[in-house]
Amino acid sequence: MQTAQGTTRPLQVEVGVEMNTKVRDVLVRPVAEVDGYLHGFVSSLPIPDNLREAVQYALLGGGKRLRPVLAWYSAEAVGGTGQSSLPAGAAVELVHAFSLVHDDLPAMDDDDLRRGRPTLHRAFNEAMAILAGDAKLNFAFQVLVERVHDPLVASSLVRELAIGTGGMIAGQVYDTLGGMPETMAAEEKLKCIHNNKTGALIRASCRMGAMLGLMDTGRAQGDQRLVAVTAYADAIGLMFQIVDDILDVTQTTEQLGKKSGKDQDAGKMTYPGVLGLAAANKRVDDLLAEALAALEPLGAPAEPLRQLARYMAVRTK
Ligand code: IPE
Ligand code: IPE
Ligand code: MG
Ligand code: MG
Ligand code: MG
Repeated sequence: MQTAQGTTRPLQVEVGVEMNTKVRDVLVRPVAEVDGYLHGFVSSLPIPDNLREAVQYALLGGGKRLRPVLAWYSAEAVGGTGQSSLPAGAAVELVHAFSLVHDDLPAMDDDDLRRGRPTLHRAFNEAMAILAGDAKLNFAFQVLVERVHDPLVASSLVRELAIGTGGMIAGQVYDTLGGMPETMAAEEKLKCIHNNKTGALIRASCRMGAMLGLMDTGRAQGDQRLVAVTAYADAIGLMFQIVDDILDVTQTTEQLGKKSGKDQDAGKMTYPGVLGLAAANKRVDDLLAEALAALEPLGAPAEPLRQLARYMAVRTK
């Protein structure tokens, strides 16, 4: 597929885009660690087996784990180790997985397919989907307070995740129920929906990873490196949801592993719907450039974040 600028969106391979081995390695390298960490944490909890099964179903089956990968490389970008980011990555993925389970419920987007499998309320039932979502939100905060040993850092991370989750919920309200000022122009409304429903959690992923990375180096959390990572996160957060909207109108259900063509049917405000496909693709290109510019002060350690941003602009699932 060609964007307005002629950027190629290549055919999907595994993670959704044709890419050289180096880029694929960057994307995929932390995923096994993240999955092992999440599996270990959920397995250790004293909860009913049926709830654990539902939580694991919607947490570990499929999905790109992009948010923990962003946390991992945000930690590295500020001079820390990816390993240190694991509590943050686990926490944001738990909130993300919770948001998807509730997003798919009949009262919300009413979807039957997620990550190539029946949605949780289809595979189990609605009550379990609501409760497993609640549980994942709860476990996200639990993993932070149990696995981050410095109480001051843990409380900063809890605050960051609460702000991100609050933004996601506000965005879901704007997207599903409205509530933005009538006087807002259509593109401002779109930005407000997308920055909240998707951007807020991506911002939290990057900032939390960076905060743990800064802890490794003994630097303060007010460090300019955190400012750079935050600006990057804001650009890719909006870009990510614009791409999600574009994929909804350009890809098949089989390709996405979730139903395509549903936004228009549901009367959703989307970038391609409001601006047209070419202008939506132009926004993606501009936001990618913005994200790359934000990382300039970080030099070589931010290279994986650059590669991730480029992947996120051209992904096909
Ligand atoms: C889908 O997110 C929902 C949005 C916020 C657009 P992802 O595309 O990251 O979903 P998974 O985790 O890979 O399934
Ligand atoms: C979902 O946006 C954002 C969330 C907070 C879950 P969408 O409703 O567009 O996500 P998909 O397309 O169902 O994954
Ligand atoms: Mg939705
Ligand atoms: Mg949805
Ligand atoms: Mg979507």
